[in-house]
Amino acid sequence: MKFFVDTAEVSEIRELAATGLLDGVTTNPSLVAKSGKQFLDLIAEICDVVDGPVSAEVTATDAETMLKEGEKLAKIAPNVCVKLPLTKDGLFVCKRLTGQGIKTNVTLCFSPAQAILAAKAGATFVSPFVGRLDDIGADGMGLIAEIVEIYQNYDYFTTEVLVASVRGPAHVVSAARLGAHVVTAPASVIKSLLNHPLTDKGLAAFVADWKKTGQSIL
Ligand code: E4P
Repeated sequence: MKFFVDTAEVSEIRELAATGLLDGVTTNPSLVAKSGKQFLDLIAEICDVVDGPVSAEVTATDAETMLKEGEKLAKIAPNVCVKLPLTKDGLFVCKRLTGQGIKTNVTLCFSPAQAILAAKAGATFVSPFVGRLDDIGADGMGLIAEIVEIYQNYDYFTTEVLVASVRGPAHVVSAARLGAHVVTAPASVIKSLLNHPLTDKGLAAFVADWKKTGQSIL
């Protein structure tokens, strides 16, 4: 399973990249606005830090402008993945960019029917938003299960399921159990995967007992 971090904060990306466990980055216009940075410079900076796919979202909603934006974003670095909304225009542009060999991430997916269209448009990734579905009382992980099942029925669907809008470690574990290819989560969620009180307690006891032996490995 691949881990992407969902942030536009370069310091967070650097910290996670240093662990060697980070496979990519996703951003969106809201995260970019929060960062206060110039979008194109920011994407270039992130692409320097991470070798894996870096999702950069178009901001137009019509196909013609979206295509131009996507082509411009893709020129920033070879690992840019153009993020497109799951609309008729977005899917049209997805197919065009895919035809040019550009990586794409079709975002704001909330139904299995939409995910089928993203795969047919040749998206590199489809991003179903589990947290936002849970927020309205729907079943986010149920959607992931349906998409994974559908994609497995067609070996010519090469689109990877990128679980987005992740709120905590339970979402990550459920996504892994379902066989989703990727999760993108805030840095705080990725870091929290490490935590278990019994690990801390066990390590403290081992350190204390080792000290009693008076020995040293080195
Ligand atoms: C994914 O690419 C999106 O940027 C993100 O996961 C949205 O998450 P949110 O629902 O927490 O805003």
